[in-house]
Amino acid sequence: MIAKRDEFMSLTREIKPGVFWVGAIDWDRRLFDALIPLPEGTSYNSYLIRGSERTALIDAVDESKIDVLLDNLRSMNILTIDYIIAQHAEQDHSGGLKKLLEAYPSARVLGSPKCLDLLVQFDLVSKDRVQEVKDGEKIALGERSLQFIHAPWVHWPDTIFTYLAEDRILFTCDFLGSHLAMSDLFAVDEPEVYRMAKRYYAEIMMPFRVSINRHLTRIRDMTVEIIAPSHGPLYDRPGFILDAYAEWASDRVKNQVVLVYVSMHGSTRIMADHFVDALISRGVEVKRFDLTNYDVGELAESLVDAATVIIGTPTILAGAHPLALYAAILANALRPKTRYASIIGSFGWGGKMLEQITEALPNLKLQFLDPVVARGLPKEADLRSLDRLADEVATMHRNIGIIKTH
Ligand SMILES: Cc1cc2nc3c(=O)[nH]c(=O)nc-3n(C[C@H](O)[C@H](O)[C@H](O)COP(=O)(O)O)c2cc1C
Ligand SMILES: [Fe+2]
Ligand SMILES: [Fe+2]
Repeated sequence: MIAKRDEFMSLTREIKPGVFWVGAIDWDRRLFDALIPLPEGTSYNSYLIRGSERTALIDAVDESKIDVLLDNLRSMNILTIDYIIAQHAEQDHSGGLKKLLEAYPSARVLGSPKCLDLLVQFDLVSKDRVQEVKDGEKIALGERSLQFIHAPWVHWPDTIFTYLAEDRILFTCDFLGSHLAMSDLFAVDEPEVYRMAKRYYAEIMMPFRVSINRHLTRIRDMTVEIIAPSHGPLYDRPGFILDAYAEWASDRVKNQVVLVYVSMHGSTRIMADHFVDALISRGVEVKRFDLTNYDVGELAESLVDAATVIIGTPTILAGAHPLALYAAILANALRPKTRYASIIGSFGWGGKMLEQITEALPNLKLQFLDPVVARGLPKEADLRSLDRLADEVATMHRNIGIIKTH
């Protein structure tokens, strides 16, 4: 006999008595925001809290996984939900709301005014079913209560965190999360979770370092035993992820150069190779990306700590190569704390390559070092110029104390 859907589709896990993970693991998803590769899939975490008088659900799931959430709730025999807390309106958490609200017709949707406005605009919920929550406001579920903390700009203007004080659990939605499908409920394999959380930080959170630092300070003042984000595993050692975020979002940079380059006929590649060796021999770490074949998430992650970015590009049709320009636009949008930058490349007869790249990076507070541009294949003098640029990078790194050895 073939199993019925609700016999094989439910996975719920108890975090503490009456507090359950009821979300969906998306093992197969490989792309997010039509931009970010998901090498390890992701999860949409949804949490059910059964109070003595009322039941609340924190965050829904992506529309593609709403049946998993509904089956999970059915398997627990949940007949009514009083409050659905929408911590963030992005569709990976709210896409399933419409169906959820049909299944639970007496549920009200709670969120920040901004979040509720977006949900109504996205046509995911009707105006008569929403209820705004203020910063610091509490709602009682009986013997315990939920407190809401407005936490805008991690990464949308609408985000709230939810604090279950009696159990010392903080629900943080995207903040502190990771795109990581795994069977562990908690971050047991910390090196693996660290890597994926850093990648997630780089792709989603990095542009918002000022808000992040503010929210981190606020969380440090609370008593938190468990951090429960809406993607990836939970943390029963909150210091692990809070310390990691504090480091990533700080102004401290590392002795690293991110070199992105593209080359049509090999000239810029020869320059890139020479430059990489010149940096290594001066004690500078290098991460090198061939822009015709790279992972956007890895590039973003490498930008989290690097002191310096170098863009390598030939001149094509009077400007920079589109792949180099794309990398510059991406870096500009992600706003890493990079301090120094330069450009290397090759040209035939002239154009505005240097201007295009420089002008694509207005958001970064960069000190530009003199570029090195060869005509056609690099000659001996061009290689010496690359050595000089490597000297200058090493000097800059030494001046700010990030090269430890001479
Ligand atoms: C499609 C194409 C368009 C080009 N357009 C320009 C240009 O507008 N200005 C220029 O100075 N060189 C131009 N060049 C010449 C290249 O910049 C030059 O060959 C350079 O050495 C290529 O570097 P690479 O080997 O790293 O690709 C063009 C080359 C190609 C293939
Ligand atoms: Fe989001
Ligand atoms: Fe999300």
